[in-house]
Amino acid sequence: MARYEELAGKRVLVTGAASGIGLATAQVFARQGARVFVVDYNQKAAEQVMAENPDFAGYYVGDVSKEEDVQSAFKKIDVLISNAGISIRADFVDISYEQWKKVIDINLNGMFLCAREAARRMTAQKSGVILMTASTNGTEGHRWYTDYNASKAGVILLTKSMALELAPVVRVNCVCPGYVLTPMQKAEYTEEMLAKVNEGIPMKRHAEPEEIGKLYAFLASDDAKYITGADIRIDGGETAGLY
Ligand code: NAI
Repeated sequence: MARYEELAGKRVLVTGAASGIGLATAQVFARQGARVFVVDYNQKAAEQVMAENPDFAGYYVGDVSKEEDVQSAFKKIDVLISNAGISIRADFVDISYEQWKKVIDINLNGMFLCAREAARRMTAQKSGVILMTASTNGTEGHRWYTDYNASKAGVILLTKSMALELAPVVRVNCVCPGYVLTPMQKAEYTEEMLAKVNEGIPMKRHAEPEEIGKLYAFLASDDAKYITGADIRIDGGETAGLY
């Protein structure tokens, strides 16, 4: 793994860090010597993650879509990895308004609340990096995830618009993963479905969560100090063109 000396001691807050991409990202930053804070609404999972990762600095059990939780979770912060999200597979005509609102509330409104809280603190301290997990589902249409896709498209323009306002003090970028092998993915895809998906990906496999974490470490580092307002795909070629 590349070493970024400047990340040592940085206060990095990762949302959705009790599982999948968030957990792997938190572990990558901890290995860089950063002070990692976990935010997740799954108390049991967060406590287990803290027990298994003694190098994490702390955790907060809260919901990113609740303004009061977000305000309590944030203290001094150098890097935000705003990553918590949910997805629910359903035919478009079967999506209830309740489901639509829940997905938008966590995946888009939650990103807004966390990003605004971080931006207020970072502009005051005159430094910081805000990174968000969007998705290739936010760049092209995909069947069965209309609410999710709309939320992720929103995250991409949230990123770009914030980057314009916060430059040159705070950098803001989002990452668009393709298929990543996480508990979220395993909950919705059978082994046969996973194998079929892999066939259609030029790299012939899902991403490992740690590969997203390593991209986040690069984006938070000084090596990326000219990168802002970008939506960076990490998808094994999935959206490169017809395959
Ligand atoms: P996961 O389900 O393994 O982990 C998500 C974590 O977020 C869980 O620990 C969960 O408790 C937490 N969480 C969910 N809603 C929350 C809320 N309102 N407040 C606080 N914590 C909350 O999922 P995974 O796959 O690691 O996904 C992480 C992010 O990556 C999500 O934003 C997802 O949309 C995105 N993503 C995932 C891809 C994949 O293939 N797995 C592909 C592209 C994007």
